[in-house]
Order: sequence, then structure tokens, then C-alpha cells
Amino acid sequence: MTEPAPAIRVDDLKKTFAFGFLRRKVQAVRGVSFEVRPGEIFGFVGPNGAGKTTTIKMLMGLIFPSGGSCELLGRRVPDVHAKRRVGFLPETPYFYEHLSGREFLHLCGRLFDLPADERRARADRLLEEVGLAGAASRPLRKYSKGMLQRLGLAQALINDPELVVLDEPMSGLDPIGRKEIRDLIGGLRARGKTVFFSTHILADVELLCDRCAIIVGGAIRDVGPLEKLLSPKLLHTEVVIERDGHAEERRLPPGDDVQAFLREALAAGGRVVSVTPVREHLEDLFVREVEADKARQ
Ligand SMILES: Nc1ncnc2c1ncn2[C@@H]1O[C@H](COP(=O)(O)OP(=O)(O)OP(=O)(O)O)[C@@H](O)[C@H]1O
Ligand SMILES: [Mg+2]
Repeated sequence: MTEPAPAIRVDDLKKTFAFGFLRRKVQAVRGVSFEVRPGEIFGFVGPNGAGKTTTIKMLMGLIFPSGGSCELLGRRVPDVHAKRRVGFLPETPYFYEHLSGREFLHLCGRLFDLPADERRARADRLLEEVGLAGAASRPLRKYSKGMLQRLGLAQALINDPELVVLDEPMSGLDPIGRKEIRDLIGGLRARGKTVFFSTHILADVELLCDRCAIIVGGAIRDVGPLEKLLSPKLLHTEVVIERDGHAEERRLPPGDDVQAFLREALAAGGRVVSVTPVREHLEDLFVREVEADKARQ
């Protein structure tokens, strides 16, 4: 059996911008490669200015690469057939302020040639799903930032896409709003969709993603399942022992014999309260990569 085509394939993608009177050059993306498999939730993680939006714009065919190529659903970008099966939330979506949420989604449905009754049904279902049913008839100029972000997500789903590309879907949301969007994205996976999203909110990546790519300074620093990126890096083992009513915490460096330490503590009349292997968090890895990038400059 042949492998299914990757949902996204990015191959040595490059983008150099020239700007200003002196045509100064900025290498925003410097030979980025990665693949997103069908059905996975893939996080595209990097600090401000790392090249996330530029990569996504090339993927969506909005700007031309200076080098390399990319594919959506097995077809080289730009491709109209593939694009119809993809949903997209841009970083700064443009909303027609005088339209209501429902009217806006109807308009988006029309761009995909959905029949009128289908458009209505999908718009209402999506408004419900993103928690905007109560505001469906309100003009968008009266929506809060978080409400607009949810509407942007609904808009990205109007064509019932196989692949959803989201540029910072959680930006501007409070913790509850973020959880709701996370749940929505999790729900998309359960329905067999592929989700690719950029973010610098590391907790969301840890909670959601099957795999992620870390981009810093226009280059990919790491790609893989989160456990694989982080697990070899056991920072220390935290052991809490209670003796004579006092809890005492010890940090054993990797390589220390934890079992021997516990045996000794027990023999000395202590009680083991907890043993916690402390692994590297995405934040530690992220900070390390950003520092390494600074050192290279
Ligand atoms: N049209 C442009 N002209 C010149 N430089 C640009 C242009 N667009 C982006 N850049 C530069 O390219 C680099 C990458 O920008 P990009 O928007 O892709 O970053 P990002 O990872 O999306 O950051 P953020 O997290 O802030 O959204 C930045 O240095 C930015 O200033
Ligand atoms: Mg961006």
C-alpha cells in the first residue's frame, strides 16, 4: 500500500523581502522543510518575527516563495482544487463591520459556492460551535476581539475542510476562550481533520499537538512529537521525604540512583511523600533555541 500524501509538505522554502528606499533585504524564511501527516494536529511554534506568518502565506499561495516549494493535500501550491479543501484563518483577518456574524459566514459560504440552504445550516451550526449563537445577528463592529477570533475560526470551517491552517488561533483570547478553541481543535481531530496552527503559547502546544516544529530566525530548529523533543532531557528527580513531621525536598540530578536514595531515606525512618521526574518543558527548549539563535548572530 502506498503512503497517503502528506497534508502539508514544505520543502526548502525561502523568502527574502526587500523593503525601504535602500531595498534592504530581510531573510524572513531560510530554507524551511517539514511535513504534516493527515489527521494530526501540528503546532508551528516560534517567537515574534520567526517567520511563521511568512511561511503560512506562502503555503496559502498569498505570496510567492523566493525559493523552494510547498504542497497542500498532495498538490503543489498554488492549486485551486486543493485550496477548496483547505480552511484558513489569517493572522489579521478582515471583517466587514456592518455585517452580522451570520451574514459574514453566509458570505464566506458563497465564496465556496455552497447552496443557500446548506450555507444557512452550516453558518448556524458553526456559530453554535464557536459560542456565538447568541450574537449571530449583531453587527461585527460590536464584537469583542475574542468574538472576532472565534468568528474567524468559524469562517475557516465553512467549507468543511480536510485541512485547517490557523495563524495564531488563540491570540487575543482569555483562558476560557483559549480552552474553548482548544476543545474545538481537538474536536476537529476526532472528525479526522488535519490541523496546522502557529502560536507562541506553549501551553496550547503541550495540550493539543501530536507533533510540532520550532522555528527561530527563519529556520527550523526541531521537528517531532513533543515527547521526543523533550523526553531525553530529564532535568532532575524531585523527591520529598517527611522526617519527624518535616517535609524535605531534594533534587537528584539525572544519573543519580533514585532507588538507593529512597531505600536509605526509608531506613533512616523517613516517609516518602513524592517522587517526581522533572522533564524539560517546551518553554525550556524554546528559550534554549532562542538563546542559541542570538548567540549565532
Ligand atoms: N512584507 C514584508 N516586508 C519586509 N519584511 C517583512 C515583511 N513581512 C514580514 N517581514 C519580516 O519577516 C520576518 C518574519 O515575519 P513573520 O510575520 O513571518 O513572523 P512571525 O513568526 O509570524 O511573527 P509573529 O509571532 O510576531 O506573528 C520579520 O523580521 C518581519 O519583519
Ligand atoms: Mg505571525
